[in-house]
Amino acid sequence: MGPSNPTPVAPLSPRPLSFVASPCVAVPQVTSAVGSTVAPYHQGPMTIPPTSELPDTMLVRGGQPVDGEIHVRGSKNALPKAMVAALLTVEPCRLTNISAITDIAVVDELISIAGGTVVHENDTVIITAHEFRALADDDVMRLHAASRIPVLTTAVSLHRTGHAVVAAPGGCSIGPRPVDFHLNVLRAFGARDIHREDIIELHVDRMRGARIELPFPSVGATEQFLFASVLAEGDSELSNAAIEPEILDLIAVLQKMGAIISVEPNRTIRVTGVSELGGFEHRVIGDRLEAASWASLALATGGTITVHGVQQQLLSTFLNMYRRAGGDFKIDADGDTLTFHRARRMLRPLALETDVHPGFMTDWQSPFVTALTQADGVSVVHETVYEDRLGYTDALRSLGAQIQVFTECLGPTRCRFGAANHRHSAVVVGPTKLHGAELVVPDLRAGFSYVIAAAAADGESLIHGVDLLDRGYADFRSKLSAVGVEHR
Ligand code: UD1
Repeated sequence: MGPSNPTPVAPLSPRPLSFVASPCVAVPQVTSAVGSTVAPYHQGPMTIPPTSELPDTMLVRGGQPVDGEIHVRGSKNALPKAMVAALLTVEPCRLTNISAITDIAVVDELISIAGGTVVHENDTVIITAHEFRALADDDVMRLHAASRIPVLTTAVSLHRTGHAVVAAPGGCSIGPRPVDFHLNVLRAFGARDIHREDIIELHVDRMRGARIELPFPSVGATEQFLFASVLAEGDSELSNAAIEPEILDLIAVLQKMGAIISVEPNRTIRVTGVSELGGFEHRVIGDRLEAASWASLALATGGTITVHGVQQQLLSTFLNMYRRAGGDFKIDADGDTLTFHRARRMLRPLALETDVHPGFMTDWQSPFVTALTQADGVSVVHETVYEDRLGYTDALRSLGAQIQVFTECLGPTRCRFGAANHRHSAVVVGPTKLHGAELVVPDLRAGFSYVIAAAAADGESLIHGVDLLDRGYADFRSKLSAVGVEHR
């Protein structure tokens, strides 16, 4: 059966750029590196809960030389999706280059509850989903609150049982993280949804090929499309799809399983559904997010860090910005060992805009911007992927950083957040001498940024909530020791 008509989703209409002063502040005007005079958005003081309520606390002593080597394993944004792919077949599936991060434990639990088996051996996991039962409401509520991954099993559950349950998803606290694109994708394949309080039930007899256009190239919605289309009846097409390296790694896994998928120019993915999929063996790509975080630590502190286990190609946009900011790197012949260091005494300021791949990744933004507090001049940052990924700058200000956040689009792209008054642009004035402070980690990447700032600061910083870093940085504390960041 051929694809049905494309399912339109409301287009995003950007608003003309205008800089409007926030009514709640009386702070000096700032001239940005993009040549406009802007008024800053109000930033209030940070509230820190009493230390006794926060057991996972780390003391970091800053100002020490940073030097050492770390090994990065399978990507946090690729590995759990390959585990979800394994649920599309009854045959055993073997993944290597596994890292010990929270999302893996969440997917392990989900697979066990659904009736499959998961066996971990060193850096390998073998998954056999000989059975798959749809999750009960309370399991869905608990697992979805712990991670963004369980929502990706919705299409799998629809294929294998004819129904699925979705809850308001959890993950990092970086904006509302809606699932409307996911639901629209599944509706296009024929799923019907019933809403009751915090739960959405979905039902389908048989998913059928669909043509869909995403309003934004969402990584998760593209993955949901892939999981739905590979076993749907007939052909499917997704336009405005995400094409992040982690998506291409998932496509490689699905192709090994027997799926027929082509990635066409202009962000279009075409899939011809097959009746069944088989097992696979796959080594997951290295984590480009983690590599960039450690590279940013070297940049901010003027140290040297060697990162093993991530391919240069996965980082090319980051590496260009790294060099522009005054960092440099050496890469070995295989392209998977990179040594990062600061090449100039003073870093250079930049205008930086995050974007979908191949743009500058949003997860690289907070560690890299933390390093820009040490640049000699005014840097301008425009976050276009998440509306609320600059909250960490409040905490950096408490260490002495000069950062102001704005609701306007301070970059060449008029993104969807300008019109909605989200605090999504920042002006960073450097270089600033940072001093120790007490901080609370709100999300994964912000947490690493606090550690960078604390390591670059004079004196000691007390960081609460460091357990959140285990979500994306396996063996975080031992890696910190390996590069010489003094902590306890
Ligand atoms: C994934 C990554 C995350 C990364 C992000 C963008 C994982 C586990 N996480 O998150 O680290 O920062 O891609 O590269 O892989 N949106 C909607 N409705 C939806 C879905 C998304 O409005 O139904 C919006 C989001 O609010 C956000 C944007 O689309 O503003 C991009 O989100 P998306 O690409 O889906 O991110 P995730 O897949 O959740």
